[in-house]
Amino acid sequence: MNKTLRQTVIAGNWKMNKTPSEARDLLDGVKKLCGKTKWCDVVVCVPYLDIPLAVRTLKDCRVSVGAQNMHQEASGAFTGEISAEMLRDAGVKYVIIGHSERRQYFGETDALVAKKITRALDCDLRPIICVGETLEQRDMGITLEIVGAQVKAALTAVPEDKARRVIFAYEPVWAIGTGRVATSEQAAEVCGHIRSIVRKQYGARIARGVTVQYGGSMNAENARELLSQADIDGGLIGGASLKPEPFAAIVDASNQ
Ligand code: PGA
Repeated sequence: MNKTLRQTVIAGNWKMNKTPSEARDLLDGVKKLCGKTKWCDVVVCVPYLDIPLAVRTLKDCRVSVGAQNMHQEASGAFTGEISAEMLRDAGVKYVIIGHSERRQYFGETDALVAKKITRALDCDLRPIICVGETLEQRDMGITLEIVGAQVKAALTAVPEDKARRVIFAYEPVWAIGTGRVATSEQAAEVCGHIRSIVRKQYGARIARGVTVQYGGSMNAENARELLSQADIDGGLIGGASLKPEPFAAIVDASNQ
């Protein structure tokens, strides 16, 4: 499938790392090394409190700011939560939704993920929708069923005219933060499966344009091989996004 028809997106997921004072150096480094990147979209998904600094620091460069979560309602009595409207107003363009850590530690279900996707799209945020199987599920040979069900549930929230704004991130749970990366064949198989589900629902034209990332222990060494696969259009990067140099090396590896 022709990759030039879709955007490559390299997104850092800082998770719960970097206080605003610590974020300054990392943001300056990312701006210096990736601020002029033309061949792909570079995003840093920072903790909520780092958003204002990130938006200010990156405003004159090509790196966009993302959030790592949001609430599904527009506003109201939801103490401690952050809405899509707030993110948009603060200058955020992307939001990670349904990361496996949210599913695992905060009980997020496919139904909740779908509600959040609807809200994000309504607020003109691009959702990075995370899907992936556990090691147990892979060993049972049900990876494609599990990921397929997560993708179908997510797509119930996506009207056809907004389908191209959605990004999927295939993140095998067993590869996240473990240093155990999926082989490029494993990653390509599942990313291709995700695209085939999009194709069944919206047709070939839209499926060709949807960005599908791989995430899970992607680093400067393994990125080029993963990103050379026909159906892998970028990466969602945790650990390797916490220093400018390895993150920039992954951005460089996507230029192929
Ligand atoms: P990792 O995290 O790169 O540290 O494995 C990826 C993610 O959780 O998005």
